[in-house]
Amino acid sequence: MQTITTATELRHALAEARRRGKRIGFVPTMGYLHDGHLALVNASRARSDLTIVSIFVNPTQFGANEDLSSYPRNFLRDETLCREAGVTIVFAPDTQEVYPAGFQTVVEPGELAEPLCGAFRPGHFRGVATVVCKLFNMVQPDVAFFGQKDFQQCTVIRRMTADLNFPIEIVIVPTVREADGLAMSSRNRYLHAQERQQAVAISRGLLAAADEFRSGERDVSKLVATAKEHFAEIDQLQYLELVDAETLKPAASPLQRPAALCLAAYVGSTRLIDNVIMSFPSPLLGSST
Ligand code: PAF
Repeated sequence: MQTITTATELRHALAEARRRGKRIGFVPTMGYLHDGHLALVNASRARSDLTIVSIFVNPTQFGANEDLSSYPRNFLRDETLCREAGVTIVFAPDTQEVYPAGFQTVVEPGELAEPLCGAFRPGHFRGVATVVCKLFNMVQPDVAFFGQKDFQQCTVIRRMTADLNFPIEIVIVPTVREADGLAMSSRNRYLHAQERQQAVAISRGLLAAADEFRSGERDVSKLVATAKEHFAEIDQLQYLELVDAETLKPAASPLQRPAALCLAAYVGSTRLIDNVIMSFPSPLLGSST
């Protein structure tokens, strides 16, 4: 495994593989890797000849009062995990490499970035779309992998990939959960023991609603109410919305199209997000170009 820090070096390292027609898989991350990231790496290894993992804590997707400076980092551990997982190249640019002096061009996503997290984190998806666009240009992968936990991010990136004509297949990989159901996230490490116990209510509520959907319930307010029953111990529910899985607009009741029940909540001072997808016979997860 190689670790590379500049886009020029990366282009050279990949030139030969590209010439030989190798399929390049890409897993963008902000590091502090967990099993959710490793599921993305495994998905990439299954579908590509080479897997590139980027590790870059992207400042432009953090708001002024958010956790950029405290965001967990452990580069050596990440490198070891990547080596063990069969990653070909870790791409770890510094901020100067991604945002050189004078940088001023951004990718502005449209309506998909407005509801849910977009309403509470102004500019967040502009930062995400901009950095993913830049990373796509630096890595030039054939296929890129994103975790379903960040469902709105997945929809924004799918749209951007189509809108900006990137010849890249986007694969969404199902959320990996801890044994008790908590969605894996680098931010889970902020949780104190008691908060960690409270946090399990989030997945309990969402999974209960998903069960109810599987049993045939299609009424939007009933499904949302079922999830809510579990949230008594959650300090602050920022949003809980059942949205159309493609447009992210409020889902029409009764459900007739794939929908996503999405949530953001504070447990103590930690903001967590999670979602479940309610899909009809054609599954929404998987890939699109
Ligand atoms: O999901 C993440 O970790 C980040 O938002 C991403 C896609 C790596 C962009 O910085």
